[in-house]
Amino acid sequence: MLEGVPLAEIAREAGTPAYVYNAAAIRRRFAELTAAFAPLPHRIDYAVKANSCSAVLELLRERGAGCDIVSLGELRRVLRAGFAPDRIVFSGVGKRPDELAAAAVARIGQLNLESLEELDALGAEAQRLGGPPVRVGIRVNPDVTVETHPYTRTAMAAAKFGIPADQVIETARRIRAVPSLALVGLAMHVGSQVLDPAPFEQGAARLAELLAALRAEGIETIESLDLGGGLGIQYHVETPLAPQRLAETLRPMLAGLGVTIRIEPGRYLVGSAGVLLATVLYRKHAGGTDFVVVDTGMNDLERPSRYQAYHEIVVVQEQGCRERLVDVVGPICESGDFLALGRMLPAVERGEVLAILGAGAYGFVMSSNYNDRPRPPEILVDDGRWRVVRRRETVEDLIRYDSVNGEQ
Ligand code: LLP
Repeated sequence: MLEGVPLAEIAREAGTPAYVYNAAAIRRRFAELTAAFAPLPHRIDYAVKANSCSAVLELLRERGAGCDIVSLGELRRVLRAGFAPDRIVFSGVGKRPDELAAAAVARIGQLNLESLEELDALGAEAQRLGGPPVRVGIRVNPDVTVETHPYTRTAMAAAKFGIPADQVIETARRIRAVPSLALVGLAMHVGSQVLDPAPFEQGAARLAELLAALRAEGIETIESLDLGGGLGIQYHVETPLAPQRLAETLRPMLAGLGVTIRIEPGRYLVGSAGVLLATVLYRKHAGGTDFVVVDTGMNDLERPSRYQAYHEIVVVQEQGCRERLVDVVGPICESGDFLALGRMLPAVERGEVLAILGAGAYGFVMSSNYNDRPRPPEILVDDGRWRVVRRRETVEDLIRYDSVNGEQ
C-alpha cells in the first residue's frame, strides 16, 4: 500500500516496470525542511536532476520551492511547470552558449559560473542580447572531502566543479568589470548522499569568509549563500542526516550575515517517495546462485550497477514464505545488470510483483533505452488516487526517434 493505494492494483492496471511516486511523502519532506530552516532567512531550491517529472515539479512549486537546474531541457521543464524565472538557479560545469543565452533571455534569478572562460562566454552572450544585467553567482569549490561514493563527491580541490576559493575574489572583480553581469550570490555543493553535517559546516564557513572578503573589496551585492544539495537519506542501515540537525549546526555561523541561505536538495525530497515496480519473470539456479530474473534492470534503475547502491526490495503481496538468498537481476545483456546481489528475499514465483524502494531520486531520470527497451511510465499517487503522469514509452516510439524509420 502507498498512501492507501494498493501497489498490486497499480501493477495490474498500469503494468510493470513502473515508477510510482507518493505526493504526500514529498510534501512531508518539504515541510520538514522548511520547518528546520525557518529560523534563517532561506529558500529551498529543488534539484530538478533528481526527478524532473512535471507532476513532481508542480507539487513542489505549489509548496513554495524554487529550483536548481543544470540544462536547457530542465530550464524548459521548470518554466512549463510554472516556476517564476527569479526562482530558478542554473548550475553546471559545461553550459553551452545557447544554454547561457536561453537563461539570460528567461531572466532567471541566478546563473552560477563555474570557470573564468564561462564568465567570458556569458558576458559575450549577455552583451549581444542587451537587456538588464544577468544575475550571476560564483560556484565556489570549497575544497572539502565527503564520505560518499567517489562519483558523488564534488568539492575536493581536484574536482571539475566550481572555482577554487583562492580565485573567487579575482573572479568577482572580473564580473564587476562586465556591465552585462551582476554578482548576486556565492554557491557550493559538497557532494551527494552526505550523512555528516561537517562538510556543510566547513563549506559554509568558506563561503562566509569569502562573503566578508568581497565586502572588504567593496563588493556589497551578494544576496544569498547557496549551500547546495546532498542531504543523505536512508536506503539501508544508514542514519540519515536530519535537516533539523543540519540547520542547527549551520545557524550560529549564518544567522547574522544579512543574506538569504539557499539549499538545493534533490534526493532528500523525492528519494524515499518513489518505488519501482517489477514483475518476476523467471527463477533459475546456476553456479550455486539462485537468480530471480525480473522485467526491470540497469536500463530503468542504474544506481545498483553504477554505484553498487543498495535498494531495499519488498514483495508487494507477501505470502509470508521462507526467505532465500538470491541475486535479483534484469534482462539486460551485461553481467553488471543487477538490482541486488546476495539478498535475503521471501521465496517468490513467476508473476509476483516486487517493489524496489528508494527509487524516487536518480531513478527514471537516469534511465535509458539500452537494449532498445522502452522506458517505464511514471505514476503519481495523491489523495488516495493514482494516475499516470508520464506514459510508458513504446517500441514504436523508439523506432520513430530514428530518422530512417520515422518522421523527423
Ligand atoms: N546541487 C548541485 C549543484 C548538484 O550537483 C546536485 C547533485 C544537487 C544539488 C542535488 O544533490 P542531492 O540533494 O540530490 O544529493 N546520480 C547520483 C547522484 C548525483 C548527484 C549530482 N548532483 C546518485 O544516484 O546517487
